[in-house]
Amino acid sequence: MRHEFDFLVIGSGIAGLSFALKVADHGKVAVISKTEVKETNTAYAQGGISSVTYAPDNFEKHIKDTLIAGDGECRPKTVRKVISEAPDQIQQLLNWGTQFDKKEDGHYDLHREGGHSEYRILHHKDNTGAEIQRSLIEQIHQHPDITVLEHHFAVEILTQHHLGKVTEPWMRDLKCYGAYVLNKQSGNVETILAKTTMMATGGIGSVYHTTTNPLIATGDGIAMVFRAKGIIENMEFVQFHPTSLYNPVERPSFLITEAMRGYGGILRTQDGNEFMHKYDERGCLAPRDIVARAIDNELKNTGDEFVYLDVTHKDAEETREHFPNIYNKCLSLGIDITTDKIPVVPAAHYLCGGIKVDLNGESSINHLYAAGECSCTGLHGANRLASNSLTEGIVYADAAAKDAIEKVKHISINTRIPDWDIEGTTSPEELVLITQTNKEVEQIMSYYVGIVRSNIRLNRAYDRLEVLYRETEQLFRKSIVSQRICELRNKINVGYLIIKMARKRKESRGLHYNVDYPGKLEL
Ligand code: FAD
Ligand code: SIN
Repeated sequence: MRHEFDFLVIGSGIAGLSFALKVADHGKVAVISKTEVKETNTAYAQGGISSVTYAPDNFEKHIKDTLIAGDGECRPKTVRKVISEAPDQIQQLLNWGTQFDKKEDGHYDLHREGGHSEYRILHHKDNTGAEIQRSLIEQIHQHPDITVLEHHFAVEILTQHHLGKVTEPWMRDLKCYGAYVLNKQSGNVETILAKTTMMATGGIGSVYHTTTNPLIATGDGIAMVFRAKGIIENMEFVQFHPTSLYNPVERPSFLITEAMRGYGGILRTQDGNEFMHKYDERGCLAPRDIVARAIDNELKNTGDEFVYLDVTHKDAEETREHFPNIYNKCLSLGIDITTDKIPVVPAAHYLCGGIKVDLNGESSINHLYAAGECSCTGLHGANRLASNSLTEGIVYADAAAKDAIEKVKHISINTRIPDWDIEGTTSPEELVLITQTNKEVEQIMSYYVGIVRSNIRLNRAYDRLEVLYRETEQLFRKSIVSQRICELRNKINVGYLIIKMARKRKESRGLHYNVDYPGKLEL
C-alpha cells in the first residue's frame, strides 16, 4: 500500500504533535505512532516545563544556568533561541488547553529544580506531561487534515539509497522522501511518501536495563537516520536521573521527580546520613550528573542497593497536595511518603545527543527535520538542565514547522521509490534469540557504559556489542519485518553510537565520566 502526504510526522509526543498542529493548515499531515498515540515519554514527564515567567527571573539567568549545566558543550545561539522563545510557546500550549497549576493569588505556582537559580518550572501537579499530552491529543483529533495512524512502526526513512546505488554527489545531498512503515495490524510494510518528514521518535532509555523511560524508547529515529548516513552527535551524554523508585520488579522504573528535592527533599544513606554536601555546595539541588554520581559512589562504598529521599519533615498535607501521583504510587507499594523515606536509585533517563539539526530543526538530510529528544539542537550540551527538554521540544517543533511550511511549496513527492521487498524473508523461528539478545544489550550498556565509565569497560562493551550486531543483522536480513527485530537492531545501533562517541572523548565532561580521564580538556 502507498500513501502520499505533505508532512509525515513520526512520533506523537510533544515534538511530533505540536509540529503537526502547526503545519496542518498548510497541507495533508500523517502522524504515526508505534503503539497508541498517548504512549510517549512526554506523557510520563512529571516535574514540568521550564520558562522565564516572573521577575526576579529573566532570560539571562535561565541562559546562564543552562550553559553551566551544559559544561562547555552547548551551542550558545540555540540556548538563547530556546529560552527567549519559550514564553510564546508556553502561551501556545495554554491556547491549546494545557493547564498549569496556579497559586491562590492567580500567579503560576513555579517550582525549582536542580541547577536552576530561580523558580521557573511550570507544572500540573506532578504529572505535567500527561496534561500536555492530553491537550495536544484533543487538538489533533479536531483537525480535519491530520491523519493519525496508531500501531504503525517506522522501519526506515526513504532516501536516494532506495533508488539504487548512492554515488558521491548524492551522499552530499541526501534527501528524505518519507518512510517505510510497518502496519502492525496487517503485518505489511507500507510506503508513506512525503514532501517533508519530521522525526520525533523520543528517547533511548530502553537501551539500558534500569530506566525511567517507557519501553517504546528504543532510539528508532536515531538509528534510522544513522543508517541513512545522517549526522548523529553527542551520544556519549546520557543522563541518569538520580532518583527513580527502587523496585527491582518494575520496568520502567517509576520516577521520583526532582521537584521533590526542590521542595526540600533530602538524600540520605540507609543509616540516615545526609551526604550531598560532601560532593557539592548546592547539596541536594546540585545538577543531576553530580547527584547521580554521588549516589553511585555512596552505593559502591556502602554496598547498599538504594539510598533514601526523605520528605517526612515536610507538611504531610502539602506533600499530598503537590505530589499526588508519587504519593499514590508509593502508597500502593506500602510506602507512605509523609512518614516513610522513599528508596531511590539512579536510572537512565534522557539522551542529550541525537540527530544533529540546525536552527530550523533540519537534519543533515534535506527535507528531514528532527525535534524533541531524538534531536541534538545544542541546547543541552554535555548535560541537560531539568525541565528544559519539553521546552526544547516545543520551541524546535515551531522552528521546524515554519521552515517546512515554506519549503514544502517547492518539493514534490518522489513516486519512483519502490515498495518494500520481502523476497527471501521468513518468520524467525527462534524468537527467544531476539529476547535473549535484547537482555544482553541492556546488560552490556548498564554494566559497562553507565554513570561511571572506564577504557576497559568501554572496550569490552564495544567487542561484545559487535558480536550481537553481526548476529542480529544476519537475522534481520532473513526475517519478515517485526517491531521486535527492528527495535533490537535499533538498540544495537544506538548502543554502538554511545560507545563509539564515549571512546572518542578523552576527558570527563558533563554526563560523561571516565575514570581513566577524570579531568577536562581545554576547549
Ligand atoms: P516522546 O514523547 O517520547 O514521543 C515519541 C513518539 O515516537 C511516540 O509516539 C512513539 O510511539 C513514537 N515512535 C518512536 N519510534 C517510532 C517508530 N519506529 N515508529 C513510529 N513511531 C515511533 N522533561 C522535561 O522537560 N520535564 C519533565 O518534567 C520531564 N520529566 C520526565 C519524566 C520521565 C519519567 C521521563 C521518561 C522523561 C521526562 N522528561 C521530562 C523528558 C521528556 O519527557 C522527554 O524528553 C520528551 O517528552 C520527549 O518528547 P518527544 O516528543 O521527543 O518524544
Ligand atoms: C523530573 O521531574 O525530575 C524530571 C524532570 C526532567 O527530566 O526534566
